[in-house]
Amino acid sequence: MTATHQITEPRSESAEPLLRATGVTMRFGGLVAVDSVDLDVHPGEIVGLIGPNGAGKTTFFNCLTGLYKPTSGQVLFNGSVLAPKPRKVVQAGMARTFQNIRLFANMTALENVMVGRYCRTTSGPFTSIIRGPKFRREERETREKSAELLDFVGLTKVSGNLARNLPYGDQRRLEIARALATDPQLLLLDEPTAGMNPQETRQAEELIFKIRDSGLAVVTIEHDMRFIFTLCDRVLCLVQGRPLVLGTPAEVQSDPRVIEAYIGTGAEAEEALQDKGPELVKGPESKGGHDA
Ligand SMILES: Nc1ncnc2c1ncn2[C@@H]1O[C@H](COP(=O)(O)OP(=O)(O)OP(=O)(O)O)[C@@H](O)[C@H]1O
Ligand SMILES: [Mg+2]
Repeated sequence: MTATHQITEPRSESAEPLLRATGVTMRFGGLVAVDSVDLDVHPGEIVGLIGPNGAGKTTFFNCLTGLYKPTSGQVLFNGSVLAPKPRKVVQAGMARTFQNIRLFANMTALENVMVGRYCRTTSGPFTSIIRGPKFRREERETREKSAELLDFVGLTKVSGNLARNLPYGDQRRLEIARALATDPQLLLLDEPTAGMNPQETRQAEELIFKIRDSGLAVVTIEHDMRFIFTLCDRVLCLVQGRPLVLGTPAEVQSDPRVIEAYIGTGAEAEEALQDKGPELVKGPESKGGHDA
């Protein structure tokens, strides 16, 4: 990792955001899990989404990616209203990973990535059954592109291994490769380093910088504050569904409301957040969340 990773090109504030979420609200009966959340994401940005367990982070992702139809609010992508349907969202250029890893356990790493790629192929059921020249060409291209993506995330060596036999950190990277296979402009990551050791976490940071440098915008949920503050251009903190603070890592890190939301009040708490000690500020181990 070099310091240059953290220097991003200044962007024009007038530039159209890639994603514009306004007033996104999601109710479950009497519970307002996401409450009037606004978020703009610009091309080439890495945005962090933090907040204590149950703050509504995953639910917000579910609203952005069409798994939930928000109770109210609007999600615009490239200036157009996004239909709340996962397939349409992927086709529009948004891809995600899940808090609970969702891989095809009995397929190889390569096949898992190929599945992600099929949303960009055009062979219909008929061409697929007769396996005509168009199908064979697309299949070859899909395989080549998927192999490239495995290389990009550092998994070439395990390309032929079944997903279920991969170590946890590799499974997380494989999910990222599968999401990238859909050719997104914006990648949403839900706790990409949950369960990783410190070395794997640093590798994940490198990978996310590499993804940003390849031209994508990234929004990442994470409890590991060191990870968030190293990576992100801006950070949004949610508490009980509501946006508490949106700012640069330095602003969020020093905001007493964020410190209080995470670890209570007092000088000790402030010191802990300033130190960015992940063991202190990581929050309870992920309980699985609501990926829907
Ligand atoms: N499908 C659902 N039905 C009912 N309540 C839900 C549903 N999905 C989420 N919730 C509730 O909404 C709130 C926000 O949950 P969510 O999973 O979005 O939090 P989170 O910020 O991702 O937490 P964590 O850090 O633990 O993953 C919680 O109180 C949760 O129990
Ligand atoms: Mg969650």
